[in-house]
Amino acid sequence: MLRYGDLEIDPPLILAPMAGITDRQFRLVLRRLGGVGLVTMEFISSEGLLRNCKQMLRKLHFVEEERPISIQIYGSKPDRMADAAAIVEQIGADACDINMGCPANKILKGCAGCALMADLDNAAAIVREVRKRLTIPLTVKFRAGIDDNRINFLELGKICQEEGAQAVALHPRTGKQMYRGSADWTRIAELKDALSIPVVGNGDINTARDAMDMWEQTGCDAVMIGRASMKNPWIYRQINELRAGLPLREPSLDDRRDLILKHFRMVLAEEPIKIIMNKLRTFTSWYTKGLPGGRDLRVQIGSLDDPEAFFDAIEAFFEKTRSLVA
Ligand SMILES: Cc1cc2nc3c(=O)[nH]c(=O)nc-3n(C[C@H](O)[C@H](O)[C@H](O)COP(=O)(O)O)c2cc1C
Repeated sequence: MLRYGDLEIDPPLILAPMAGITDRQFRLVLRRLGGVGLVTMEFISSEGLLRNCKQMLRKLHFVEEERPISIQIYGSKPDRMADAAAIVEQIGADACDINMGCPANKILKGCAGCALMADLDNAAAIVREVRKRLTIPLTVKFRAGIDDNRINFLELGKICQEEGAQAVALHPRTGKQMYRGSADWTRIAELKDALSIPVVGNGDINTARDAMDMWEQTGCDAVMIGRASMKNPWIYRQINELRAGLPLREPSLDDRRDLILKHFRMVLAEEPIKIIMNKLRTFTSWYTKGLPGGRDLRVQIGSLDDPEAFFDAIEAFFEKTRSLVA
């Protein structure tokens, strides 16, 4: 079990925040499959939240079934981040996370996300000011550094600890690397050795076995999973099976089809038509990665603009795949 202050996270398995992915429907999909200890939202701009609170509140909506849930904010101004964090607490989030790892140009230009790793004084001021305004746990997620010449995750980790963060999460690539190369887990072990607050390890967990390896190799307090959560939403349950010494169950093709259709019915019922097709395309791409015929389906759905045609294409895909693997 992992603790962020008074918050218990059990099992110590965390859904990584992912823009455009970790929305309410997907969080519920994972919660209903079971095995995840903490879910997170995609990152929220502190400025956007303060300027357009009403519109943002729709995005920030969550239901009790999702708890515990953490909301991640980003920004570059300590006082504005503190104001945004206060709203996060008011909304009822169980924890607030600060993004210091996003390498996207749009975010870096605003001196937020990973850019804060190049301005540790400001990073410290943000953690300090946000901490003062919160009673819920505060965590910080960051990378190894801006680039190979500026690897400073240990320094930033110590700053977060000194300024009162309850935990940190490390994705051990540099900002410049984006998602290239591989996550260097030895850095997670180094951070764990250097800090007394919990360290969450993240990066390149593709299978349940990888999570066990990360624990063994780094001693991290919890494992955070991003992309594999879409490719294999059962991964959390599988990790728990391995931890309990049980045989690992693989989902059947029918399990996969049912999960996709259930998820998409939720999207259809809850989202405005404008964004339904985008969401269905995005998730179909992730859900079918590595399945035979997945690439053909992804090409086919690119040209569909009616949700019902989409559902038919998914059904047909699974019919065909079943005959291929039978
Ligand atoms: C589509 C996508 C969106 C992401 N959005 C965020 C985000 O909003 N905040 C954040 O801290 N990290 C974000 N990340 C990074 C992930 O949280 C995670 O650190 C990274 O994917 C490495 O973990 P993985 O190898 O398990 O995917 C995003 C990653 C992806 C693939």
